[in-house]
Amino acid sequence: MLSRNFLTLEGVSREELRDILDLARVHAAGHGGLSLVGRTVCLAFFEASTRTAVSFELAARRAGADVISISEKGSAVQKGESLIDTVVTLDALGADAIVVRHPSVGAARLAARYTDAAVVNAGDGCGQHPTQALLDLHALSNAVGSFDELCGRKVAVVGDVLHSRVARSVIPAFQAAGMEVALVAPETLLPSENGAWELPILPSVDDAIDWGADVLYALRLQNERMTSESPRIPSVAEYARYYGVARRHLRDDVLVMHPGPVNRGVEISGDVVLSDSSLIPAQVAAGVAVRSAVLAYATGVAQKAVA
Ligand code: NCD
Repeated sequence: MLSRNFLTLEGVSREELRDILDLARVHAAGHGGLSLVGRTVCLAFFEASTRTAVSFELAARRAGADVISISEKGSAVQKGESLIDTVVTLDALGADAIVVRHPSVGAARLAARYTDAAVVNAGDGCGQHPTQALLDLHALSNAVGSFDELCGRKVAVVGDVLHSRVARSVIPAFQAAGMEVALVAPETLLPSENGAWELPILPSVDDAIDWGADVLYALRLQNERMTSESPRIPSVAEYARYYGVARRHLRDDVLVMHPGPVNRGVEISGDVVLSDSSLIPAQVAAGVAVRSAVLAYATGVAQKAVA
């Protein structure tokens, strides 16, 4: 996985996770020396983003890279240029790394076939979101003391697993870190992969607390990936009753996570977002260090930085 492209966390190993999180930690402590001076990082975001886009940009700029950002609006994509032609163009302009966010599953993998630059998947449809899962592990490791402390802890992944690229990255990452994972979701929001994952399914967040969850990882209800003809939940209020993380779930020893953006009052209540149990701001903050480490690996400077 820790080659040049960062496309998926499926099959990631504990050692690979540890390497990248170690590098992120060294970088966060200000001893990283991860210089991307002379490297060109292109951010190609064809789907909305706040946290991911900003933290990739900060990560690249703080390390001294030349950064180019393109989005659908304002680029030749608006004139109908394809993803492949866009990538070929960025390659010809000297990109060392291309960070791709796209509404289609497999977009980053497709892009990687058409460029010598490293491709970093910043979210492809309902596919994968590897850097989100890495920053989640980084934030959680910091909260519990270390990466090794994650081993044996229980995490309940709650909500719209079906449409979540975050779930498809974070579940293998939690498992590789030695955590016990359960899903809390209605049948209609469970993906076909669940058969292969073989995870226990719990009927509500209350049950996740009874199961002994150390971490409640709430997922956003992905309204933009559902059609009005096939709503997957009978009502938002009913969904929130069973799958929303609320004040009554708060415990001193239970951490609450969410990748953002949050639908307050749906998958998580506003007071929980702001509570001491919430790791949400720490997750966002972890993005810069983790994405610096990812860009260092992607552009081939990581070995130098670690040495
Ligand atoms: C996630 C995404 O875009 O996949 N957000 C993020 O990157 N922080 C999760 C989501 O949109 O629900």
